Amino acid sequence: MKIGLIGAGLMGGGLARLFVKAGWSVSVFDPDRAALDRLDIELPGLTLSQLLHEVAGDVDLIIESAPEKPALKQSIFADLAKTARPDTILATNSSVIPVGVVTESLSDTDAKRAIGLHFWNPPDVVPLVEVIRGPRSGDAALKTALEWMRAIGKDAVPVEKDAVPGNRMQAALWREAIALVEEGICTPEDVDIIVKRSFGLRLSAVGPLENLDLISLDLGADILRVVLPTLSNATEPPRELTDRIARGERGGKSGKGFYRGWTEEKLAALRSRLAAHVTSLLG
Ligand SMILES: NC(=O)c1ccc[n+]([C@@H]2O[C@H](COP(=O)([O-])OP(=O)(O)OC[C@H]3O[C@@H](n4cnc5c(N)ncnc54)[C@H](O)[C@@H]3O)[C@@H](O)[C@H]2O)c1
Repeated sequence: MKIGLIGAGLMGGGLARLFVKAGWSVSVFDPDRAALDRLDIELPGLTLSQLLHEVAGDVDLIIESAPEKPALKQSIFADLAKTARPDTILATNSSVIPVGVVTESLSDTDAKRAIGLHFWNPPDVVPLVEVIRGPRSGDAALKTALEWMRAIGKDAVPVEKDAVPGNRMQAALWREAIALVEEGICTPEDVDIIVKRSFGLRLSAVGPLENLDLISLDLGADILRVVLPTLSNATEPPRELTDRIARGERGGKSGKGFYRGWTEEKLAALRSRLAAHVTSLLG
């Protein structure tokens, strides 16, 4: 099997690792030579190119992991539709931009072979892939991609409408976590402790709906009746977040975000702690 990866950043690099391990032939496109060179050091022998046709021209599946900008992804998909073989499945790994938006300018024939394949970081470790149906995606492309993902050991979940369910749930949690800080209820550190030392411990074993069955739907309804009116219903990123961004506090890479004192070493340690934890949970 042959795969073309578009974008050699965090996700593209992780996908390269995943598909190399799965025994697929991997080629990677990125306009940035430095990004390709970094991948070359880690995984020598891949086809790495700044020319799209060298990567996309003769593969079974293409996964795009370029920056999360709708216009950029649209232009990449327009180029892929011209460059790839007619039977190549075209997938976007976009976090939240709908497949319908990314594939807007494609003909119906090309849109039929275009789907969402949403991986989770690090994609060579985290098992889930959301296989997303865009408004014009064809059944055959979705079924084939689902089978391929399962064949390489992924927990592939069909998503029947153009949405990314995992990110919807994650965004709901972010909104409420930020609201707790904004309302002066908890510090950022304490919000994280509350999650990590309570329901966060449970979530990888018992899903939220399984847990509702466990505690009983009646109790769930009683809880929601009281708590839902107190939750944030913000429809824009909250000030607690945008004010920080305006002050240059953009998270780890700027040294400060909700936490202070980030360094490259601390970030690297956090990444390894995360990867080691996920790996140990997966056995
Ligand atoms: N980081 C995550 O946890 C995560 C998880 C799932 C999905 N995603 C999605 O994957 C995509 C990439 O995210 P990332 O974290 O790897 O970003 P990243 O910034 O690490 O990598 C993006 C790469 O795309 C390259 N690029 C720039 N212009 C390009 C173009 N025209 N064509 C091809 N490549 C181009 C950049 O040089 C860079 O190497 C985004 O859509 C993101 O939302 C990210």
